[in-house]
Amino acid sequence: MTSLSGGQAARAGLASLLLSRYDVFLLDEPTNDLDLDGLDRLEKFVKGLRAGTVVVSHDREFLARTVTKVVELDLAQQQVNTYGGGYEAYLEEREVSRRHAREEYDEFADKKSSLEARGQMQRSWMDQGVKNARRKATDNDKIGRKFRSEASEKQAAKARQTQRMIERLDVVEEPRKEWELKMEIAAAPRSGAVVATLRGAEVRRGDFTFGPVDLQIDWADRVAITGANGSGKSTLLAALLGRLPLDAGNAALGPGVVVGEVDQARGLFFGEEPLMDAFAASVPDLEPADVRTLLAKFGLKAAHVLRPAATLSPGERTRAALALLQARGVNLLVLDEPTNHLDLPAIEQLESALSSYNGTLLLVTHDRRMLNAVSTTRRIEVADGRVTEA
Ligand SMILES: Nc1ncnc2c1ncn2[C@@H]1O[C@H](COP(=O)(O)OP(=O)(O)O)[C@@H](O)[C@H]1O
Ligand SMILES: [Mg+2]
Repeated sequence: MTSLSGGQAARAGLASLLLSRYDVFLLDEPTNDLDLDGLDRLEKFVKGLRAGTVVVSHDREFLARTVTKVVELDLAQQQVNTYGGGYEAYLEEREVSRRHAREEYDEFADKKSSLEARGQMQRSWMDQGVKNARRKATDNDKIGRKFRSEASEKQAAKARQTQRMIERLDVVEEPRKEWELKMEIAAAPRSGAVVATLRGAEVRRGDFTFGPVDLQIDWADRVAITGANGSGKSTLLAALLGRLPLDAGNAALGPGVVVGEVDQARGLFFGEEPLMDAFAASVPDLEPADVRTLLAKFGLKAAHVLRPAATLSPGERTRAALALLQARGVNLLVLDEPTNHLDLPAIEQLESALSSYNGTLLLVTHDRRMLNAVSTTRRIEVADGRVTEA
């Protein structure tokens, strides 16, 4: 099993699942690394299960097609929420309940601040009254003095009453924002018109043959790359970037191309070095304090950044790779199955960052919602090491 590619291991896992008969199924991220065919089989299997099934997944399309109930672990609010109905119903209900929580808090905050302002006013009138009473104490105006001191007594009572009203308000906690970060992809100056080319490129890996492939990627192309597990998508990316020696043909990157990459194995931060050091080495211009702040924004706190990068979870290493895209300008962005291991808020942030990114994009994904959400200009299909363009 250890020598299989991510997709092949996922298929082996799926095969064992399809053959199993249990009373309860607990599936932890079953869609990771599966291709469209694998997703389809998994979906049919899960839908057909009569046994109780719990799925942990960030594949929105898969969830929309399979689940009948959603349990949300809300880290930001420290709450566990249960929603009846399917995934779409959950999205709607969550939206409504978030809006309500916000409105309730706003109402509470408004009421509290207006009572506080009133209390402030009453206390200052009271002080004013006391001062006036003192200043005029030499007068023989006994009636006026009595009146002024009564008035200030009254104000004091009102102020106390206001204070009690503030204390009796039902406190509504401010809903915490779950994702403080607005992810951005830093843009490098544009590259030349031709970004990357393959000419008669061939790669042999064991009994798998990739190519021959002729392909040209131009500036600002946004390319979606799809294909079955093991068809050669990651090989295509490696060949285009010149990371893989070719057995025939040639590969070239254009002038001025600055590559930013999230590779499928998340191999960027996978050494013995602490994450902090590995990250800082990639962005030597950034102060260590800024590196920490940036990583913290991506959910990587002190306890993470000092650990050897290889001991982080795949999700944490994916976040680190995304943080690097924000720290270092790129104009050719290469994402190989970026949604694997990422949670939904991070996926949504990535999608919105991609929509404002103007450089060249190569995107391999089986996430059907991401394929819809990200605008692309070209679609490339890889099958058995051959590349065709739709
Ligand atoms: N280092 C390697 N040694 C031998 N075979 C490999 C190696 N890397 C990938 N392969 C094989 O090459 C084929 C294409 O792999 P890959 O490009 O990773 O596919 P995809 O990304 O489309 O799932 C697969 O059959 C895979 O097993
Ligand atoms: Mg791959």
